[in-house]
Amino acid sequence: MSKEITLTGVEQTFADNELIVSKTDPKGRLTYCNDIFLQISGYTEQECLGQPHNMIRHPHMPRCIFGLLWETIQEGNEIFAYVVNRCKNGDHYWVNAHVTPSKNKAGEILGFHSNRRTPDQRILNEIIKPLYKDLLAEEQRHTNRKTGLQASTDMVQNILKSKSLEYDEFFAKL
Ligand SMILES: Cc1cc2nc3c(=O)[nH]c(=O)nc-3n(C[C@H](O)[C@H](O)[C@H](O)COP(=O)(O)O)c2cc1C
Repeated sequence: MSKEITLTGVEQTFADNELIVSKTDPKGRLTYCNDIFLQISGYTEQECLGQPHNMIRHPHMPRCIFGLLWETIQEGNEIFAYVVNRCKNGDHYWVNAHVTPSKNKAGEILGFHSNRRTPDQRILNEIIKPLYKDLLAEEQRHTNRKTGLQASTDMVQNILKSKSLEYDEFFAKL
């Protein structure tokens, strides 16, 4: 879906005291979007509910970050990640996202929940944007999608290994 929409290059922002919230079913289809989510993305609730969360996917996001996200939450763990999202009109907005699984008493995953805050601009500009640019370039260097994803995933793992950090430790130290 994202590829069909022309990107404007215009960045949208939201206030430090605002939270962009969404919830999904176990397959990642939207079951809840708060008003700030709808306001910034430019979609109505009707347009969002039941849709896969990748409806707001920005093509500049490296796929390996979503690979890591899904691997983590499907194992029942939570994850933080910087993400750039696409608005309905082709604008974009950066978020610092926290994604968590919702479980029942038996530990089964009923769905997922994400709260997003405004990103730290220094971290975004000095670390995340250059890192994601490199990861995306690595993915695009390969004509085969699967090989590209593996190569960028390896790149992330090698960076973490060189710092002797797990991803959550890396994020916490940003
Ligand atoms: C609770 C939750 C929140 C998510 N939030 C976003 C988001 O803000 N932006 C985004 O592009 N993907 C988000 N995703 C990941 C998408 O499901 C999807 O994996 C991603 O957009 C990449 O799309 P693709 O797998 O089709 O390449 C979220 C997933 C879950 C479960």
